[in-house]
Amino acid sequence: MNKKVEKYTYYTAEWQGHLSELEEKIKKSNYLPKYHLYPKTGLMNDPNGLSYFNGKYHVFYQWFPFDSFHGMKHWGHATSEDLVKFKDEGFALIPNEEYEKNGSYSGNALEYNDELYLFYTANYKTDTSKLAKQALAIMDKKGTITKYQKNPIITGAPEGFSQELRDPFVFERNGSFYMLLGGGRFLDTERSGFGDIGELLLYKSANLFDWTYQGTIDLPIEKGYMLECPSLVTIDGKDVLFLSPMGYEKERYRYQNRFASIYLVGQLDVETRTFVMDHMDELDAGFDYYAPQSFYGKNQLPLTFGWFGCGEQVYPIDDEGWKHGLTTAQEMRLVDGKLVRFPSQELQEYFTEKQTIKAEKLTLEQPYYHLQFELNKGQDSTICFGTNDDFWQLNLDEKKQTVTIDRGHLTKKIDHDYGMKRTCEIAELANNIIVDLFVDNSFIEVYLNKGERVFSFRVFLKSEQTTISFSKETEITWAYFE
Ligand code: FRU
Repeated sequence: MNKKVEKYTYYTAEWQGHLSELEEKIKKSNYLPKYHLYPKTGLMNDPNGLSYFNGKYHVFYQWFPFDSFHGMKHWGHATSEDLVKFKDEGFALIPNEEYEKNGSYSGNALEYNDELYLFYTANYKTDTSKLAKQALAIMDKKGTITKYQKNPIITGAPEGFSQELRDPFVFERNGSFYMLLGGGRFLDTERSGFGDIGELLLYKSANLFDWTYQGTIDLPIEKGYMLECPSLVTIDGKDVLFLSPMGYEKERYRYQNRFASIYLVGQLDVETRTFVMDHMDELDAGFDYYAPQSFYGKNQLPLTFGWFGCGEQVYPIDDEGWKHGLTTAQEMRLVDGKLVRFPSQELQEYFTEKQTIKAEKLTLEQPYYHLQFELNKGQDSTICFGTNDDFWQLNLDEKKQTVTIDRGHLTKKIDHDYGMKRTCEIAELANNIIVDLFVDNSFIEVYLNKGERVFSFRVFLKSEQTTISFSKETEITWAYFE
């Protein structure tokens, strides 16, 4: 257990003892979820390679298995029939080749000729800077993953761009393959590190192995200094592009976290490399959400998972040796041109025995539940989760027409650097607001009006606390996860 882990360590069999011990220790944590994917050891970040392949779902993820900090990134792998119960498939990619000596970074998956092509960034540091490299691994139907012998498939960044160029997202359009890469451009001289302006780069291929740079995509938005984790799905004939920009300025009620995640709805033209945009917004109003990826599930259903974390947050349970996880799988729809996301039908079906009561106070039997109630927009409301000296709350401010999540009254304080409250405006929402809470111990997702607005955030109560107090008598419906 006390084996010291260097940052750039990759997994070999000699680490198995350390990992098994750590896994046993983590099983005793009071903060584990039941229906969110979390690392059995170490740190989990971005969802990668999300796909429905060979009759099941595959969720890959960024994983530093040895400890709860951002070290050498591996790809972990889990499979599932329903995106709720997962089978742990262990390591998918171990960065043990010279070209990926600083980690296997994020990317996506594309099914082709009965195999699953996994695209990823091979993180490669030089003495003074980085050299951008993109790589490929192929999974066959038996689940065997083989790295492409001629990796990397792309080396370096085009002139004038930062070598921080990453997170390949490959898709097919008009009979060709395209890859989006997130990066940044320099305004004057090239340096090491990030660029000055975030850019989305487009590459093209006929065979998935040989790629040619096409240019950047003209995006009519603020781009920060770096764009991470692009992904794209089509919903009702509209392109929905996800981006995770770094360097966004805070707005009154948006972009409060260290890094932002946004979506654009419109039309991407790969020939002219333009995105004609109808609408854009932040994806999540919570504290702990970043680097989401979208994909198609069974029957081409548009789905997404996000990383339940952001940047290098400090949590009060970091010494437990596990950190972060993923959001629930969310189905996506467009409603009046805006993106709405809500936990998958499959997850909702795990909450079967619904109970309803009209009350001001309620104590639940366990901290794994789906709870629903309505808020009247014309009245202030406060709902507290926890006890007097240790609680978080949800407020509706009638005058300001906002809903706020406040983590400031918790005994175990979280990541103070980025503030204790998150607020969203509700002026555009329908009169009464339906609130759906999916509480999974320390993982909380709050949905307003079935996903018009979402808050994803972590809370670490001192003890298993399931008392909920409303400012007035309210009709409440709930069910436990079973
Ligand atoms: C986003 C990100 C990606 C990168 C990965 C490394 O959270 O920084 O851009 O590929 O994490 O773990």
